[in-house]
Amino acid sequence: TVYSILATILAYLIGSLSFAVIVSRSMGLSDPRTYGSKNPGATNVLRSGSKAAAIVTLLLDAAKGWLPVALVAWFGKPYGLEEGTMALVGIAAFLGHLWPVFFKFEGGKGVATALGVLLGFSGWLGLLTLLAWVAVAAIWRYSSLSSLVAAVLAPVFYILIGGELWDFHAEIFVAILAMSALLVYRHKLNIQRLVEGKESKLGQKKTK
Ligand code: G3P
Repeated sequence: TVYSILATILAYLIGSLSFAVIVSRSMGLSDPRTYGSKNPGATNVLRSGSKAAAIVTLLLDAAKGWLPVALVAWFGKPYGLEEGTMALVGIAAFLGHLWPVFFKFEGGKGVATALGVLLGFSGWLGLLTLLAWVAVAAIWRYSSLSSLVAAVLAPVFYILIGGELWDFHAEIFVAILAMSALLVYRHKLNIQRLVEGKESKLGQKKTK
């Protein structure tokens, strides 16, 4: 429907707000695309030394994934918008983060935004996936490794658990799979660094 298309375009535009860049700029910090992994994401903003900026980036990048899905879930029914559109707006916000129209299509890796989208799909699913991320981070201290493990686990959780906690919808499952696949693909340099033992640990500053 036309509403579904409109919602998807809007979600892509919201997703295109690269909060790592916006937050850093408004807090007078240097552009995250110029230091560390050069990635516009919360992990790299943390390498600037500002925990506050990293947390705000994480929250806003997650919120922009969560909001479109939640809005469709709450208000979509009268407009004929159901799970198919939830899946579409989730993917659209995620794609906006990876390839933002406002930032020359050079975006981030989608971890925080995917988390937000998952939370929109199901609070429980988002929470479980977040727990997986935190557990891996607590043990090994690599943000990228945690993101990779969480990305692999999210679709597994969605199929295996569900039942009591959420209803299975094929469209949502496909959206989760697509996000996870793209997220892993965007971490190819991180994977290389992890294999070579050159990945920087969480909170480790690296300004060049
Ligand atoms: O948020 C992305 C994270 O998984 C890795 O970020 O900056 O270490 O490449 P970074």
